[in-house]
Amino acid sequence: MALLDDIKKKAASLKKTIVLCEGEDKRVVEAAAQITKEGIANIVLIGNEEEAKRVAPGVDLTGITLIDPLTSEKTAEYANILFEARKAKGMTEEQAAQQAKDRTMFGALMLKAGDVDGYVSGACHSTANTLRPGLQVVKTAPGIKTVSSCFIMIAPEGGNKYNPDGVAVFADCAINIEPDAQQLADIAISSAKTAKTLAGIEPRVAMLSFSTKGSGNDDKFFKSVPKVQEATRIAKEMAPELALDGEFQFDAAVAPEVGELKAPGSKVAGHANVFVFPNINAGNIGYKIAQRFGGYMAIGPVCQGFAKPLNDLSRGCSVDDIVATVAVTALQAE
Ligand SMILES: CC(C)(COP(=O)(O)OP(=O)(O)OC[C@H]1O[C@@H](n2cnc3c(N)ncnc32)[C@H](O)[C@@H]1OP(=O)(O)O)[C@@H](O)C(=O)NCCC(=O)NCCS
Repeated sequence: MALLDDIKKKAASLKKTIVLCEGEDKRVVEAAAQITKEGIANIVLIGNEEEAKRVAPGVDLTGITLIDPLTSEKTAEYANILFEARKAKGMTEEQAAQQAKDRTMFGALMLKAGDVDGYVSGACHSTANTLRPGLQVVKTAPGIKTVSSCFIMIAPEGGNKYNPDGVAVFADCAINIEPDAQQLADIAISSAKTAKTLAGIEPRVAMLSFSTKGSGNDDKFFKSVPKVQEATRIAKEMAPELALDGEFQFDAAVAPEVGELKAPGSKVAGHANVFVFPNINAGNIGYKIAQRFGGYMAIGPVCQGFAKPLNDLSRGCSVDDIVATVAVTALQAE
C-alpha cells in the first residue's frame, strides 16, 4: 500500500523513539525487532531480556532498549510525575509508587517525561486500559478537550469518483460513544490535523448527519441535527481558516451535483475528504461499509487529540499492524 510505505519511509527519516509497552507479547517483540532492523524508529520495549527471549525465541534484540519498571532507576522519578499529575484526584504517594510500576502507566510516564516521542500499546490490553494512562497523565493537546480516533481510508485500485484524493479520513469510529457538540467540534479539528499529517491531503471537513442544512430535524427525539449544527458553529469558531461545513448528508458531502443543489455556495459540499460522524454507531458502521462494500482499506484507529502521540492496537493485531502503528505514531510526533 503506497501510503503506508510512504509513512514508513517518512518515519525512518525522523528517527523518533517509540515505547512499546508489552514486552510480554510475542508479536510485540517480533515487531520491535522488525522496526529496529528496518530503521523505522528507535524502540524502547518495556520488559526484560529473559522474558523477551522466552516469548519470542530466536528474535534478534540488538538495538532495542529494554526497560523493566520493576528494576528501572527511573521508576521513582516517574512515580513522582504521576503523583503530581493525580494528587488533585486523590492519589497518594504510595499509590503512585505502585501504579508507576504498571507497564502501560510506565510507558505513558516515559512519554510525559519526554524520554520517548510516542507510545504504542494494546496488543494484550483493552482500549480503556491502554488509553487511560494517557488520558490521566499525558492529557489533551492545547485547545482540544477531547481525545478521539479516526481511520485513514484508502480507495481501492482504480479509485473512486467521489474521492479524487484516493484517501479520506473517517472519525470518530472507536472512542467517543455519543459526543456532544463541543466534543464533535474537537473531533473535527483533530481529524483535519490528522488528514494533513498522516494522509497528506488538504482537509475539507464535512459534519455528517441525516439532514443537509436544515432539510431534516429530530428536535422532538434525539436532537442529533441541532447537535451537529452547533458542532459546526463551534468548529468554525475554533478554526476559521479551515474548510469545514455542515450539516451534510453523505451524498451532499461527496457528490458535487447534490452538494450544489442542497448546499449552494458551500466550499466543502460535494468535495469533502474528512468525514465527522455524529456518533460512534454511525462512524463505526460507516467505515466498515466503506471497507466491505466499497473495497476501501482502513488504517487505524489512529488516536488524535493527545498532547503527545499515543496509539492503541487491536488485540487481534499482527506484527505488520504493530509496525504500521509505530510508523504512524512516529509521524504524529513530528
Ligand atoms: C476512551 C475510554 C476508553 C475511556 O474510558 P475510561 O478509562 O473508563 O475513562 P474514564 O471515564 O475513567 O476517564 C478517565 C479520565 O480520562 C478522561 N477522559 C475520558 N475520555 C476522554 C476523552 N475522550 N478525551 C479526553 N479525556 C477523556 C476523563 O475525563 C478522566 O479524566 P480525570 O480522571 O483526570 O478526571 C472510553 O471512552 C471507552 O471505553 N470508549 C469506547 C471504546 C470502545 O469500546 N471502542 C470500541 C472499539 S471499536
